Parts: sequence; C-alpha cells; structure tokens
Amino acid sequence: MEKLEGIRACVFDAYGTLFDVRAPMRKLAPEIGPHAEEISRLWRQKQLEYSWLRSLMGVHADFWHVTGDALDYALDQYGVSEPGIRDEILALYLKLDVYEEVADALAAVRAKGKLTAILSNGSPSMLDAAVRHAGLDKLFNMVLSVEDVGIYKPSRRVYRHAMQKLQIHETPSVCFVTSNTWDSHGAAQFGFQVVRVDRFGLKDDRLPGKPVALVKDLSELPGIV
Ligand code: 2OP
Repeated sequence: MEKLEGIRACVFDAYGTLFDVRAPMRKLAPEIGPHAEEISRLWRQKQLEYSWLRSLMGVHADFWHVTGDALDYALDQYGVSEPGIRDEILALYLKLDVYEEVADALAAVRAKGKLTAILSNGSPSMLDAAVRHAGLDKLFNMVLSVEDVGIYKPSRRVYRHAMQKLQIHETPSVCFVTSNTWDSHGAAQFGFQVVRVDRFGLKDDRLPGKPVALVKDLSELPGIV
C-alpha cells in the first residue's frame, strides 16, 4: 500500500473505529431477545440520522441525548420494554469494548512522532468514559468533541476545529481515520488524507471526497503514515 506523505497528525473517529458499538447488544442479547442484532443496527442508524437531522434543523442536542432517543426508537420499534433494559444498554455504551489492535497501533503511530487525537460526535463525558475504560488515555494528545462546535460531523466546521486545536494549517497534513463511510467522505472533501477502516465490508458512498487508503483494521496504519 502506498505511503501517505507529509502527515503530522492522525485524527481518529471514535464509535465504530476505535470502539465496538455492537458490543452492548451482543452482551445483552439473552435479555433483549431474538432481535438484538437488528435493534443494534437500527439504534446506530437512528443515532446517526438524528445527529444529522438535528444539525440541519439547527436544534443541537448532545450525542448522549441523541443516543438515548435513538435507543428508545429502536426498542419501541421491536417492542422491547423490559424494565431497566434501557439503562443497562446505555451503561454499556459508556464502557464499550475497544477493538483489539487499537492500543498497539496508536503506540506505533506515536512512536513515529505523529500527534494523535480523537474527533468525535460523542459528548466529552461519553468520550472520556470510553477512553478511560479502554485504557487509551495516555495514547492521545487530545480528545476533541463536536460539543465545542455545536454541530455534528460531517460539517466542515468540525474538521476545521481539529486543525485549529492541533495548530495545523495544511489540511493534507492530517490523516483522518474512520470506519464510517459518511465521515470518510466528509473529511476527504474537507481536505484531510483519509484512511477508511473497512471493518464492516462496506463500499464507498456515492458522495464527494475520496479516501486515499482502505485498511482492514488499524494494524496497517503505522506502516503507511
Ligand atoms: C463518531 O465517533 C459517531 O462514529 C461517530 O463521531
């Protein structure tokens, strides 16, 4: 795979890229019942839709709020109403499993002298909880949330915020790493060099902006930046 030139910082999406968002439903499947996987997918889909729609509507609410609303929709859609299940699922979202190669890959990227940061739609307290639970706190120079901007990715304002915080003035100096196709197009269109992590076997979307590399997981990243 071709090496990316001129990278000063690697900026990572959080949910689905570093953290396994399917873990809560997988763990609670015995309580949730036969539709746990479909509920998990619908939850994620609605969570993203609500973030984008709120951005378009100009009615921001933080990602914890949106995540709870999306979960309520998904549970309601499948008729899951066991007392306490909502809170159990949400509690697990604050301590998501981290994908197994992440810590080593981050350490290797840092050993190459690159800055590392998270840039996520997650709220600061959600991100803080997930990063600490995964033991990744020492591996990032900064953890950035859209809450500082008040609009969700893929708004250009969010990607610009990362540049300002990192004090980087040239967009191609940032390698943006995400497993979300929509985020990969948004960040590439903004000007970042995007590495898409194809954890889910997805095609690129038919949207502007093209990732420069596709990797199967983060273990390939240190070799190309
Ligand atoms: C993020 O972490 C939601 O995966 C998205 O920003």
